[in-house]
Amino acid sequence: MTASEDLYKRARELMPAGVSSPVRAFEPYPRFMRSAKGSRIWDVDGKEYVDYCMAYGPLILGHAPPAISRAVKAALSNGSVFGAPSEQEVLLAEKVRSHYPAGEMMRFVNTGTEATMHAIRLARGFTGKRKIVKVEGGYHGAHDAMLVKAGSGALTYSMPNSLGVLEDLAKHTVLVPYNDPQALRDAIKGAEGDVAAMILEPVLGNVGPVLPKEGYLNEVREITRDSGTLLILDEVITGFRLGLGGAQEMFHVKPDLFTLGKIVGGGYPIGVFAGRKDIMSNISPLGGVYQAGTFSGNPVSVTAGIETIKILEQKGYTSLNRRSERLRKGLRDVLSRASLPYQVSGIGSMFQMFFTDRPIVNWNDARKADAPGFMKMFRALLDEGVYTPPSQFETNFLSMAHRDSDVEFTLAAYERALRGVRG
Ligand SMILES: Cc1ncc(COP(=O)(O)O)c(C=O)c1O
Repeated sequence: MTASEDLYKRARELMPAGVSSPVRAFEPYPRFMRSAKGSRIWDVDGKEYVDYCMAYGPLILGHAPPAISRAVKAALSNGSVFGAPSEQEVLLAEKVRSHYPAGEMMRFVNTGTEATMHAIRLARGFTGKRKIVKVEGGYHGAHDAMLVKAGSGALTYSMPNSLGVLEDLAKHTVLVPYNDPQALRDAIKGAEGDVAAMILEPVLGNVGPVLPKEGYLNEVREITRDSGTLLILDEVITGFRLGLGGAQEMFHVKPDLFTLGKIVGGGYPIGVFAGRKDIMSNISPLGGVYQAGTFSGNPVSVTAGIETIKILEQKGYTSLNRRSERLRKGLRDVLSRASLPYQVSGIGSMFQMFFTDRPIVNWNDARKADAPGFMKMFRALLDEGVYTPPSQFETNFLSMAHRDSDVEFTLAAYERALRGVRG
């Protein structure tokens, strides 16, 4: 028995499915990890993998980047949490605002889940309206209003609608397909003036990266503005990933509110919700919308965020994105040679592949792809020393620590892994 199998047996007695977050679980047993550095991660049996899960997105500089570790150690020696404001929060807020002009004011929280939860409460509090429009397969964290046709782990385990979410609440979440402006118009009209906000991942990251059709995001902006609906862009994945200014900058769309997470904490727990000053001014104690958190804005996460953004400002995204494009192109070549129907989707340093000959435009297309075939490939990739998220409905990430040699190694691994899928 491997050390991972042994730990899995023990873990399952203590934690549901032996994990702290559902998508980490897979059969016959998840690999328990011991250490990680750069583009590599090592399990407790000593096996080395090139990592494309990258903790689901925060690690744009790779695992344990020395500059961040140094800054965090220095911050830690001054205390881990103050329960009072610090200079670092001001510095990070200034940095965020310099790259996201839509973020006139912001609050730091601890996770992306918290960020979207508070943004939604704020939208309802500000507008006095009840309904929230969300996209099918969009994932915005594990809180009640958003566990309606959600992506990520919720989709992986075929339970996009969680038990325990009251029907009385779920009925205020209105679903529309991604990339379909007319459906959004109809949904807002059908809700008869009761839509507080639309929340949207600008690139649908929790189905695999699904890209917006040309003009879609701008049309969403127009429709929401014209109907008096707030637009919340959930940039927990895309923020500082598609570029310093995220999808807002790339697609020229200015939301009323937006959320960040993952990269903005430089590998440490964080979330941000931000937006127009007239809306954010309704947050307690300035206004009547309540939000609070013991660890919110702690100096450790905030320091890691500041230092990460500084490095991103220096390095830029060109070589990261070029290397990622090489991987996507190489993957297309490998899949063509394997004579299997496929789609490779991606943007910036995000990618995923689907076994289907239909383009993936929304959740409905993605769920028709061959997910069991994907899991077969995932397991073969593990044997080959490539660690990807254990689900069809997730995004793979490259980091600035990935090298050309990693890309070549990975393409050769896919080539061999695909023989198993075909056979
Ligand atoms: C787009 C998006 N929003 C929100 C969240 C929730 O963030 P967290 O897992 O930090 O709570 C995620 C997590 O993957 C996400 O991808």
